[in-house]
Amino acid sequence: MKNTSVDPIKGFSKLSKQAKMEWLVQNFSDEPNESLQMLQGYWHALPEVQKLHDEFIENTVSNYYLPFGVAPNFQINQKMYTIPFAIEESSVVAAAAKAANFWLDRGGFKTTVLSTTKVGHVHFIWDGQDHAALSSFFSNYKDNLISSTDEITKNMRARGGGILDIELIDKSELETDYFQLAVKFDTRDSMGANFINSCLETIAKEWQSSIEASDLAGNVQIVMSILSNYTPECVVRAEVSCAVEDINEGSGISNKEFAEKFRRAIRIAQIEPYRAVTHNKGIMNGIDSVIIATGNDFRATEACAHAYAARDGQYRSLTNAEVVDGTFRFWLDLPLSVGTVGGIISLHPMVKFAHELLGNPDAEELMQIIAVAGLAQNFSAVRSLITSGIQKGHMKMHLLNILNQLEATEDEKAQIVEYFKDKVVSFSAAVEIFSKLRGIPVDQKVKK
Ligand code: MEV
Repeated sequence: MKNTSVDPIKGFSKLSKQAKMEWLVQNFSDEPNESLQMLQGYWHALPEVQKLHDEFIENTVSNYYLPFGVAPNFQINQKMYTIPFAIEESSVVAAAAKAANFWLDRGGFKTTVLSTTKVGHVHFIWDGQDHAALSSFFSNYKDNLISSTDEITKNMRARGGGILDIELIDKSELETDYFQLAVKFDTRDSMGANFINSCLETIAKEWQSSIEASDLAGNVQIVMSILSNYTPECVVRAEVSCAVEDINEGSGISNKEFAEKFRRAIRIAQIEPYRAVTHNKGIMNGIDSVIIATGNDFRATEACAHAYAARDGQYRSLTNAEVVDGTFRFWLDLPLSVGTVGGIISLHPMVKFAHELLGNPDAEELMQIIAVAGLAQNFSAVRSLITSGIQKGHMKMHLLNILNQLEATEDEKAQIVEYFKDKVVSFSAAVEIFSKLRGIPVDQKVKK
């Protein structure tokens, strides 16, 4: 292993791509030529497509592939979808496909967009004493703040979106002299981050100069103007339901017992944060995969979902379940801010394909599809957990990763997969059977 303590480098960003790669492999790789080839091996075959990728971010030297899988047979509000997933974890796509098929026979998924308002803030300090005077100045000046953004909001307004409202919020009890302008937006089919931030910065300038030009006694300082990725007023609901007697989920457990055990598993994730985190992580397996496949921002989605899960002060499950009057109902409410235009959506060929696969949905439809992917994922995970346990299916899916790690041939893989058809997969059991097939001692070939 190379010593990774390397002298600082000045002007790295100015180096050519080739020079950047050479600097990297010379300084960090034990096998510079192999590493160079590997980095180049992940370049796209078409130079113009590679150029697109090079320009998405800075200091690009190669591409980082994630598998792109699909799960067909999702019926959502009576319409059929094949959903794309970009994720490295085995079992996620299989779980989604399984849930899609299960609910296809029971009426499919139903979804509703509950709200679509996004928000951003101008955080400012004002050291005047007369808060009522500031409030009344704001009320009189609010329309001017909105019209100061007219040039920026023109196109968005033509599409039916724009600024919905601005509120002055006094936070001085939490931090001396701290106030906010909370600005609400409808950004239609774009996630709207650039749009919101441009509006906020314009409003901040206008606000500062209007206070300075007023006879209000007090100094104003803008601290920052930025959208919030927390969007509790941009929420989608995905749900499934069926008569308990129609559950027949096939693992031998009675319908009634399944429904009750499922409800209780969700309840445990509602009241127990240790379980809630893993439970929601499973939901995000589905959500993030579709978010990434459709070129949306998974960091924003994650941050928002977890803040929402903790909105009453305790971290809880994002899904809910009930069994009432013989009906099993399971649903997810999720704040989600996504776009179907802008960003890399019209640039990245795989992202464009993902949108095509979904029938080029608008942002509201995409919110609904993504929420369904999360609900489906959670359904399959909890279904396994309360019946066969998670490892049976998971390790079967993971077996190929283990065999690839052992560098098994295609023929060896086929034989070992066949061997495990009726057995529990574990790393050591896989190594054992692999070694036996090759006729080598058990620990000779194992790479960790
Ligand atoms: C694994 O990625 C996700 C699960 O742990 C989710 C869960 O426990 O609900 C299976």
